[in-house]
Amino acid sequence: MKRIGVLTSGGDSPGMNAAVRAVVRKAIYHNIEVYGIYHGYQGLIEGEIKKLELGSVGDIIHRGGTMLYSARCLEFKTEEGQLKGIEQMKKFGIEGLVVIGGDGSYRGAEALTKRGFPCVGVPGTIDNDIPGTDFTIGFDTALNTVIDAIDKIRDTATSHERTYLIEVMGRNAGDIALWAGLAGGAETIVVPEYDYNMEDITSKLKRGHERGKKHSIIIVAEGVGSAVDFSRKIEEMTGFETRVTVLGHVQRGGSPTAADRVLASRLGAYAVELLLKGKGGRAVGIEQNQLVDYDIIEALAKPHNIDKKMYTLSSELSI
Ligand code: F6P
Repeated sequence: MKRIGVLTSGGDSPGMNAAVRAVVRKAIYHNIEVYGIYHGYQGLIEGEIKKLELGSVGDIIHRGGTMLYSARCLEFKTEEGQLKGIEQMKKFGIEGLVVIGGDGSYRGAEALTKRGFPCVGVPGTIDNDIPGTDFTIGFDTALNTVIDAIDKIRDTATSHERTYLIEVMGRNAGDIALWAGLAGGAETIVVPEYDYNMEDITSKLKRGHERGKKHSIIIVAEGVGSAVDFSRKIEEMTGFETRVTVLGHVQRGGSPTAADRVLASRLGAYAVELLLKGKGGRAVGIEQNQLVDYDIIEALAKPHNIDKKMYTLSSELSI
């Protein structure tokens, strides 16, 4: 393999730039040319492709977002879109592709793999919902953003003796909610993976109130519904005053943490190593701090599991 491509796709995540840098530098180190594909699969279809040099990825390791830009592309779900993409890569002499992104991006890589084009998926999403890896690039940074918000909201929750609901991202996964809730000392964490019961949530609030605890933090993962709806039900059932904060896209930005930069560098470089060995159709990840790779089609078929022990612990520590 003499020339590879790299793209970022779907919702961006802090650390994507560090991953692009690792792909480019690792490839050039091994005398492989790298082409950047801009605006994800949309740019691939339209041929928005430029050669990247060592300097192209200078001064980006600490920056959030993605220098390659990102997009969600419906056309790439069609056979026509995929064939156009392969055609563009052939035109530029690209023989292998590194795709940095989340679930939807992996589906694109899976489609290319099924059509015989070697792709390696690198997990870049704040949601931490990709099977075959303990952590995705951007999750740690997003978590730290959420914790910063929880700490600040806790100050005002204490002063005003209110119940605060904080809605966090994560698509259908509750990882951000669970980890941030545990690290932020939330009283209740509601995630899509486990059933919740409004009676249990409100009686816990009331019990706390009776003990003299006048403020509470409840973390609601967006996958279970709107925190505004939750707050209405809680007010109805308890009579307590509530406030809601929906953190939204602030969770997707910011300078990546050291953990995300290191993870992105390791995974990006590993993806190139696999392509150099002629291995396509792989998804890279990290498990117990070791680099791993799986068949991308099989990886996507596996369920993403939230840490049950951590969920139980969070309930035990917030009695
Ligand atoms: O997948 C990342 C993510 O931020 C999810 O947590 C969220 O549900 C979604 O993307 C938001 O997408 P958009 O940027 O299109 O609003």
